[in-house]
Amino acid sequence: MTTITFIGNGNMALSIAQGLKENYKIEVVGRDLKKLQIFESALGIKIDKALIKDFDMQDKTILFCVKPANIEEVATLLKGKARVIYSVLAGTSLEKLRSNLNTNAVVRTMPNLAASVQKSMTTLTGDTAFRAEAEEILGSIGTTRWLGSEKEIDIATALAGSGPAYLALMAEALADGAVKQGLKRDDAMAIMRGLFGGFGELIQDIHPALLKDGVMSPGGTTAAGYGALEDGNVRASCIDAIEKAYKRALEL
Ligand SMILES: NC(=O)c1ccc[n+]([C@@H]2O[C@H](COP(=O)([O-])OP(=O)(O)OC[C@H]3O[C@@H](n4cnc5c(N)ncnc54)[C@H](OP(=O)(O)O)[C@@H]3O)[C@@H](O)[C@H]2O)c1
Repeated sequence: MTTITFIGNGNMALSIAQGLKENYKIEVVGRDLKKLQIFESALGIKIDKALIKDFDMQDKTILFCVKPANIEEVATLLKGKARVIYSVLAGTSLEKLRSNLNTNAVVRTMPNLAASVQKSMTTLTGDTAFRAEAEEILGSIGTTRWLGSEKEIDIATALAGSGPAYLALMAEALADGAVKQGLKRDDAMAIMRGLFGGFGELIQDIHPALLKDGVMSPGGTTAAGYGALEDGNVRASCIDAIEKAYKRALEL
């Protein structure tokens, strides 16, 4: 079995390790043995545990899962040259990863919140020689999409990374609307969840415009509601939301 070495033992490392544990041997490197033991029991399988100080990553396949602000500090503790580093660090460029970490190759990966339920939409970019391997490893926690540049990964982050917040706003607002018309809160929430669950599957195969056409009869109820969304500039606001989130990523 191939070994994957996690540097960092936080939430994202645990989510990815959950997806990999059946098919890979897992090694986890952290700064606190107790936390590594907690990680091991949360994962539910035996792992190799190592402390980060002087950890030798020579020829290892690394999943780099610390916070972006800790990269310099962590880099000084590591020895050896990694085979490849897959980084999950938000907004941390390939150039910054390459200049801090000693490795043959680097791939930037951008999982989203759904990693915790193994349904992440993860975008990838970096050394193309490792594209297939990156797709296989990150594919263990959901869907992946390889992108040709870091600009595209920043745009995609505005979509898939921030997207759960945008959809959460829609989900809450639609349920609020139903409560306003007299539905009980519990019922409204249960129905909204069912709506999003079913929609999540339908949208995989059907173009959004066709989904909308399929449910909107002439002069009907959906057309009346849809008109209100257009009046409220929801379409333009969504386009603007992606632009604002992307531009903000460039500023940070
Ligand atoms: N959560 C998400 O949905 C999401 C989505 C996309 C990308 N990401 C990226 O995922 C990365 C990790 O996020 P997370 O949610 O897993 O954060 P987290 O739970 O806070 O985990 C961060 C880990 O880094 C370790 N660490 C920090 N400084 C260290 C040091 N000097 N030496 C050794 N270990 C050190 C922490 O160790 P201790 O446990 O000892 O403190 C902890 O295990 C971030 O870069 C974030 O940008 C997260």
